[in-house]
Amino acid sequence: MKLKAIAEAPSNLAFVKYWGKKDAELRIPTNNSISVNLSEARTITSVEFDPEFEEDSLAVVGSKTPPEIGFSDRIFKHLNRIRMLAGVSYKAKVQTRNTFPAGVGIASSASGFAALTVAGCAALKLEISEKELSGLARLGSGSACRSIPDGFTEWIAEDRDKNSYAIQIAPPTHWDIVIVTIVVSKQAKKISSTSGHALAAASPYFPARLASLPERLEAIRSAILDKDFQSFGRQTELEAISLHTIAMTSPIQMENSWYSGSYYWLPDSLELMLAVQNWRSNGLEVYFTLDAGPSVHIICLSKDLIQLVGSIHEIESVKPDRKWDLFINTPSMGTHLVE
Ligand code: DP6
Repeated sequence: MKLKAIAEAPSNLAFVKYWGKKDAELRIPTNNSISVNLSEARTITSVEFDPEFEEDSLAVVGSKTPPEIGFSDRIFKHLNRIRMLAGVSYKAKVQTRNTFPAGVGIASSASGFAALTVAGCAALKLEISEKELSGLARLGSGSACRSIPDGFTEWIAEDRDKNSYAIQIAPPTHWDIVIVTIVVSKQAKKISSTSGHALAAASPYFPARLASLPERLEAIRSAILDKDFQSFGRQTELEAISLHTIAMTSPIQMENSWYSGSYYWLPDSLELMLAVQNWRSNGLEVYFTLDAGPSVHIICLSKDLIQLVGSIHEIESVKPDRKWDLFINTPSMGTHLVE
């Protein structure tokens, strides 16, 4: 019997961000977060277990950037969790491919660990619920739990391992918003999200952020359910700035250097953020958000997509040597098995 399966998982974009953990080992977050799955940013992973394999192996297909230090160990540790559940000790061969660049502010660990979880569990014929798959994916990378259900999802923070997973708040077809992801640089960030989470509590503004989150979660959840684009967009943009305020005010010592905080933005990111505010005042209703990286995600209603893409190309061409990559995402299904 062949113990092999292939899964495809979307990355997701958080409207309410996960930034800070109550328990780093179990990846229990300080707060709930809300996201949508991205149709054009996906990871496809095959996992094969075999009693004949002597060690675990990982092949990242088609990637020009080397994986983050310790990435293979994180993958192998996750295989151990799946093996434990199935009660087997077979080693595995993992092959994985992304449709988008890693380390630039599109959550690749989210799609990566969601695909690994679903493929690994299916390969070992584990029959577990969607909630359990989400909780298991979370142990690999927190944001991965939100890539398991379809569409718009909320990760319920909770305090215990068993209860911390994501649930669907609306299916992908619920709302025809479009997320245009602009990759302004493929240079991987210096400070990983995992390090950023650990630094968050050092920001003097972190308690204020946490205090504001229950209201923001309620506002964004209701705006999605009511399809209230203005309220959704305003709160989402404010939330992105809140996360970056924390990152920029969390001091960090790295090797021999001291930094007053992490700037995940690049000048091009800021140019796009200012452009979004400008386009809005000229009547184009668009909002931005950024994760821990320089890529800018601009959200519009589908009726405004052509105008938005034209406006992005216009400012891209202001500097002749500038070459951005655009991913035009719609809300998508979650992680699923493929043939
Ligand atoms: C800024 O899920 O990558 O994208 O649990 O340490 O793997 P780990 O962190 P990760 O953090 C994602 C942070 C974020 C915000 C978000 O996706 O909610």
